[in-house]
Amino acid sequence: MNLVELAMSGWYSRSISTAVRLGIPDLIADRPRKLDELAAVLDVDPAMLRGLLRMLVSAGVVVRDGEAFALREDFAELRSDHPRTMRNVFTLFAETYDDAWAGLGHTVRTGESGYEHVFGVPLYVHLERDADAARVFDAAMAELARPVAAEFVRHHDFSGLSTVVDVGGGSGALLREVLGANPHLSGVVADRGTVCRRGAEDLRRSGDQDLIARLSFAPSDFFADLPAGSDRYLLKNVLFDWSDADRVRILRTIADAMTRPAARLLVLEPLAHHEEDWSSLTRAVFCGSDVPVLDEHRLRALLDEAGFDVLSTARLESTQHTLLECGVRRS
Ligand SMILES: C[S@@+](CC[C@H](N)C(=O)[O-])C[C@H]1O[C@@H](n2cnc3c(N)ncnc32)[C@H](O)[C@@H]1O
Repeated sequence: MNLVELAMSGWYSRSISTAVRLGIPDLIADRPRKLDELAAVLDVDPAMLRGLLRMLVSAGVVVRDGEAFALREDFAELRSDHPRTMRNVFTLFAETYDDAWAGLGHTVRTGESGYEHVFGVPLYVHLERDADAARVFDAAMAELARPVAAEFVRHHDFSGLSTVVDVGGGSGALLREVLGANPHLSGVVADRGTVCRRGAEDLRRSGDQDLIARLSFAPSDFFADLPAGSDRYLLKNVLFDWSDADRVRILRTIADAMTRPAARLLVLEPLAHHEEDWSSLTRAVFCGSDVPVLDEHRLRALLDEAGFDVLSTARLESTQHTLLECGVRRS
């Protein structure tokens, strides 16, 4: 990329997320379509659509054949029906997260969260106020969770157990995979009230009666109170968002809920294995510089402080995630 192309890279990503929101990848994935046909189906201004499609051609996402446009196979994950769709991840990164990066200068100057500087409130408060951004966020988390969940269920033996709580489990992607592989289990997603309402509504609309009978959503605040008495507590991609003090508070709330002697906490985090130059900066833009990058050494110290013993660790193949199985120290 030359200097001008680099300067315009945000325009490319916005063009792609706009196309995703319009449903263009779905329309041109199986067969090329002509501009007029697309404009009629989408009910948009044909001249502006031509410009957008040319931008996508220039980005290498779409190929043009005469008057027709088609999605390049390399970008099939922008389709909504792709088994590994990343359309919401793309939209989240290109829109809400990119907006937050407008606060980068503030973060570099002060160490404070650029996200909060731009939106006036932290991430999860902002998501309470912006239903569209929140839906995209939940769906993006589910898209990112699916491959990790598939690897996780191959790793952990749930036989002989009956209940699992996923703390901060979002729309339930991880639990769907766990319950799918373990028909004897029931699961509860413990997340913010609005996330639970959306998750429960999506589950009801799915019409999957077996899953509806075994998966439920419990509006919770993981700083205060969680469903108690379960066999397993899952905690995936939660701790890395918070300061060390908040991480310990979350872990202590979980420990309080683990009333069964054989209960286990299964932490799944994309632990840093070496300090990458930019990972602490991205963390600071989203959360502020008092949220340190999480590596295994730090996580073990926090678990210890919250009263957990680490019983085993495993790196989940073909993912960035490490699994730590923990029990509450009872002395
Ligand atoms: C980064 S997302 C991870 C979601 C999911 N565990 C996954 O890996 O896909 C963090 C989750 O924590 C939830 N969360 C944030 N604050 C919370 C709180 N105070 N109580 C419960 N859940 C909370 C968010 O709503 C979100 O679903």
